[in-house]
Amino acid sequence: MAAQGRRVVLAEVTISRAGNPVGGLGDLGAPLGPRAQTGKMLPSGRLLSSLVPGLLLAAQVAAAFEPISVGLAIGAASILTGYLSKGLYCRFSECCHEKRPLNSSALKLDLEEKLFGQHLATEVILKALTGFKNNKNPKKPLTLSLHGWAGTGKNFVSQIVAENLHPKGLKSHFVHLFVPTLHFPHEQQIKLYQDQLQEWIRGNVSACASSVFIFDEMDKLHPGVIDAIKPFLDYYEQVDGVSYRKAIFIFLSNAGGDLITKEALDFWRAGKKREDIQLKDLEPVLSVGVFNNKHSGLWRSGLIDRNLIDYFIPFLPLEYRHVKMCVRAEMRARGTDVDEDVVTRVAEEMTFFPKDEKIYSDKGCKTVQARLDFH
Ligand SMILES: Nc1ncnc2c1ncn2[C@@H]1O[C@H](COP(=O)(O)OP(=O)(O)O)[C@@H](O)[C@H]1O
Ligand SMILES: [Mg+2]
Repeated sequence: MAAQGRRVVLAEVTISRAGNPVGGLGDLGAPLGPRAQTGKMLPSGRLLSSLVPGLLLAAQVAAAFEPISVGLAIGAASILTGYLSKGLYCRFSECCHEKRPLNSSALKLDLEEKLFGQHLATEVILKALTGFKNNKNPKKPLTLSLHGWAGTGKNFVSQIVAENLHPKGLKSHFVHLFVPTLHFPHEQQIKLYQDQLQEWIRGNVSACASSVFIFDEMDKLHPGVIDAIKPFLDYYEQVDGVSYRKAIFIFLSNAGGDLITKEALDFWRAGKKREDIQLKDLEPVLSVGVFNNKHSGLWRSGLIDRNLIDYFIPFLPLEYRHVKMCVRAEMRARGTDVDEDVVTRVAEEMTFFPKDEKIYSDKGCKTVQARLDFH
């Protein structure tokens, strides 16, 4: 069971341990606030505490006759209560389950059914997560860097991944979402953010080794902030007594979107199929491009330099047919019948580029939900 212990609030430094809040200036609340952990007593501990005296009393009675049985009875009592309390506790509250295996077929199905037009992301994410979770002794945490135009499904996929790792998904205590414009807004406070980030990650990985950290909008993160977590991503067995090897870090970024679009467009213009684009066509371009891009959040980053990012995952720009798929999915999610006229109308309201060919949606599927409200 996860040791519930630390509470860290980013932004104006409010860091406390063992549920003992240190007065802070500004608790930004969501999305970090709700995930902060407090050191509450386990409710099941109270429920079962009434059982313990009974078992111990029985042990004392037995002690009058035979000392060895006392030890056995006490041992059995503590194992039983420990086991029961954990089982009960996990029924009512979220537990970390560090060793829970990944259901690869469920993840595969989710990706294939819900994520449109992203054959590379589907393939790589499935492979990366399955390999990582099947490995009992990973040598470093898993780090994925997702790149692509806005609205192509990076946040959407992170949500799917999170749900497959911790059933409560983004609402889980063990899944943490960082948004730079919200959590690290001021350029003058990089040092402070670095300290807070280290503290937050250390505290949460101590509580749950299989914690998931998602960094959204990496392109808006001030250069250097992310390098604070470099020691955690490296091949160390432990850093200050904490092992980070079972954790997962996911970086999301629009940076590299232009490179990906160019490649997709070259394929399209050459009359080749989108699905024939391979990872090797894009991954090297992407890592170099992101490293040299001042506004990528990974500019000259030690994370790339030291090869600490396991996979650069390209999200391709979405076409008209994918936008239509998004509209249909949204209609189904709302419990309405799919009306093809509406699907076409919503898709046609979107803008497409390049100017002449008009192949890719400017905003991917991003505004589909809002537009559907008007139909
Ligand atoms: N490839 C996709 N397949 C299915 N739905 C998508 C896809 N891309 C975007 N969407 C839909 O559009 C919404 C916005 O996309 P999002 O994942 O936030 O984009 P971004 O790449 O900017 O993070 C998602 O919540 C999802 O409903
Ligand atoms: Mg996004």
